[in-house]
Amino acid sequence: MIAIPDADGTAPTTLTDPQSTVDVTTWRQYPALQQPTWPDQAKVEAVASELAILPPLVFAGEMDNLTARLAAASRGEAFVLQGGDCAETFADSTANRIRNKIKTILQMAIVLTYGASTPVVKMGRLAGQFAKPRSSNDETRDGVTLPAYRGDAVNGFEFTAESRVPDPARLLKMYHTSSATLNLLRAFTTGGFADLRLVHDWNKGFVANPANAQYESLAREVDRAIRFMDAVGANFEEMRTVEFYSSHEALLLEYEEALTRIDSRTGDPYDCSGHFLWIGERTRQLDGAHVEFLSKVKNPIGVKLGPTTTPEIALEFVKTLNPENIPGRLTFITRMGAGTIRDVLPGLVKAVTDAGANVVWITDPMHGNTITSSNGYKTRHFDDVMDEVRGFFEVHRDLGTVPGGLHIELTGDDVTECLGGAGEIDDAGLEARYETLVDPRLNHQQSLELAFLVAEMLESRN
Ligand code: PEP
Ligand code: CO
Repeated sequence: MIAIPDADGTAPTTLTDPQSTVDVTTWRQYPALQQPTWPDQAKVEAVASELAILPPLVFAGEMDNLTARLAAASRGEAFVLQGGDCAETFADSTANRIRNKIKTILQMAIVLTYGASTPVVKMGRLAGQFAKPRSSNDETRDGVTLPAYRGDAVNGFEFTAESRVPDPARLLKMYHTSSATLNLLRAFTTGGFADLRLVHDWNKGFVANPANAQYESLAREVDRAIRFMDAVGANFEEMRTVEFYSSHEALLLEYEEALTRIDSRTGDPYDCSGHFLWIGERTRQLDGAHVEFLSKVKNPIGVKLGPTTTPEIALEFVKTLNPENIPGRLTFITRMGAGTIRDVLPGLVKAVTDAGANVVWITDPMHGNTITSSNGYKTRHFDDVMDEVRGFFEVHRDLGTVPGGLHIELTGDDVTECLGGAGEIDDAGLEARYETLVDPRLNHQQSLELAFLVAEMLESRN
């Protein structure tokens, strides 16, 4: 029995506390895909016991607020922006890099808020996105085969036998790095850095670039709206702070279980490693450990749905993960590919809608559009990304349903990992600053460009 503090960070309780009737360890009886081959399982359990007595990273009340915000998004009364790295790394969890990412998401959010005429729910792939599923367990280079890199939570990227051995001590480092990231996030979003006027000023810099001239009129409209609010004496004090939530793929179940705490108000378990947790395309087996674990915790959760998803499978997720049909509890993040979304998404949305199920629909236009460039880089074309987003809006418009948000892999830095955009990055251009260890991210400029284009699509949602 592990003694653990409450989800709200107060009095100690236990996993088998009489208040809680939910057993969050049952996932251990189901097959768990994409888990590291730890050399010493006893060390993993020792680390888990250590994690289990550390303070929660996020709190039950915050997660309930997020569930309410997501419920609003499912009704078209808010729009979700979820963005960040494919894989966070310990080395890049610096103040500057984290600040740039937050800044980019805030800049995108202001444009989307204007387009949607609703609040934007801001969520980072941040403060916990350190573990990755891989298509192969091993990687071979020049005849040498080593375990694949599974994210900084598991092993090192460097291609040496020593660095690639899964090391459970990295789970502790993941916790502490997430904690430091959240600390900075909370400071930035409440300390004046997120002031609407400041964020808007940054966007002025973006449209001043001649390459982005087409977005100037929309930027001018936002400018007028802000000056209008100022003129009528709108309370800018309230606009100096924003709600900003953390999210990651709940992949390493020992870590997720160890961060689970019982809420003293209700006796419900919450996974306090991050506000919103999702199940990836590769681990969403209905009879698998990931679905079992997330069915037990009260966080708002998501499931990635790829092109092979059938309406029947979607309905099974609804039944298993949200049996009480709580609005905001379940988000479907579709990642179909630009050439497929218009064919596959309508059947899913129709089945879920006809069943009366409460679901938030979010588009991930990244993971179905990955290609290899002529010079060997894993990349995505900005036009394919935009085409999938456009398809997502078209499908929902045709069905009269709600396009609830965006899920984007992005960074606040000027990397060159995705093709196209106003900067017209081509195959050769990828070489300049290709830094990602896993999937290619939109850079700062491409992210803002996407936000301006989506804002125009959102105007037609109103
Ligand atoms: C990811 O979000 O980085 C990812 C691996 O996505 P998916 O599960 O959709 O492939
Ligand atoms: Co990715």
